[in-house]
Amino acid sequence: MRTDNDSNGDRDGRDRRDRTGSKDDRAEHRTAERARTPGRAHDQAHGQAHGQAHDLRHHGDAEVRDDGSALVDLAVNVRAGTPPDWLRGHIADSLGGLAAYPDGRAARAAVAARHGLPVERVLLTAGAAEAFVLLARSLKARHPVVVHPQFTEPEAALRDAGHTVDRVLLRPQDGFRLDPSAVPEDADLVVIGNPTNPTSVLHPARLIAELARPGRTLVVDEAFMDAVPDEREALAGRTDVPGLVVLRSLTKTWGLAGLRIGYVLAAPETVVELERGQPLWPVSTPALAAAEACMTPRALAEQAQAARRVATDRAHLVAGLKEFASDGVRVAEPAEGPFVLVGLPGAAAVRARLRGLGFAVRRGDTFPGLDETWLRLAVRDRTTVNRFLQALDQALSLTGGSTGRGAWGAWD
Ligand SMILES: Cc1ncc(COP(=O)(O)O)c(C=O)c1O
Repeated sequence: MRTDNDSNGDRDGRDRRDRTGSKDDRAEHRTAERARTPGRAHDQAHGQAHGQAHDLRHHGDAEVRDDGSALVDLAVNVRAGTPPDWLRGHIADSLGGLAAYPDGRAARAAVAARHGLPVERVLLTAGAAEAFVLLARSLKARHPVVVHPQFTEPEAALRDAGHTVDRVLLRPQDGFRLDPSAVPEDADLVVIGNPTNPTSVLHPARLIAELARPGRTLVVDEAFMDAVPDEREALAGRTDVPGLVVLRSLTKTWGLAGLRIGYVLAAPETVVELERGQPLWPVSTPALAAAEACMTPRALAEQAQAARRVATDRAHLVAGLKEFASDGVRVAEPAEGPFVLVGLPGAAAVRARLRGLGFAVRRGDTFPGLDETWLRLAVRDRTTVNRFLQALDQALSLTGGSTGRGAWGAWD
């Protein structure tokens, strides 16, 4: 457990200690001031970070709660039509064992075998979300760096645990691609997503591995890697990258967001350290049953098929979106995850119109490095995509569209 706390310190003397906002706003302000970006991106992205406080705790599910519950969901990246019946059955069968305390040995062994690792390198968690908190509370990092835009929960967890977080902002002009040299040399904890939510960029494993250093923990959030055909560019299963911690989630591909199940793959000593931060029996018996079931050859074959389907459906969505180029709609490409990031001027108004037309999409402005000109769309089946594209057409007409360059700035 971390005991030293430098969150209120000011390593570079630029902390203005804005006391007018909430605790979160002030922390956001501090981190924003330290935003680092590759090369000439610095000024632009730095200014961007200055200009707004990102709500790191906003997630896509907020778009489909309450009055959004009747909307067609392109906001949450959980695969539609899940969990499959066979998996539901497996989970239901486990209910007979609820009187006993959970025994995670079989599930842990199944995960280890699936990745060709010894069990000592596996920690089962209540979703990847638990892993972010365990890492933030357990690791004694002095200079944590999060590569943005990415899922915001790792940074939120780090800040909640008292860390001062540095950011590297990847730029649309660079296709949000990683430049390893942009990560400060003295960073002793680096967090990156692959494929990245929300940009859908799949970084080459080789490039991410370049970030590894003696004395540095390199956290790679592979929550969506199982939606990539052949899990190309996965680092899960690698033992030759020093300090590597891979996070996996079973909630997206399998539709188990409500069950809470994921896992960490790391060196045995890191697993022990993280495990110490867990409560007793952190993963329930039904979640363990699901984890074991999702590691079988049958499940892996279904996963692979789903990943190929995502690629086909995504190509259809991207092609459709490109038809709106004259309205200022631009897609971040190449997209490799089960969602796409779209830049368009007036995105906020278009999103509101889409809600009126029955579709929920994810706002982009809560992601550091993005602003209100971005939206994230979950990949859905062809029929749903076609209906969505029609609604987008209407929404753009209703909002007047735009031929502005908007989110992309000097992208081209
Ligand atoms: C990139 C990414 N990582 C991790 C998570 C959390 O996953 P889990 O449901 O396993 O906690 C999410 C959830 O949206 C995510 O988008």
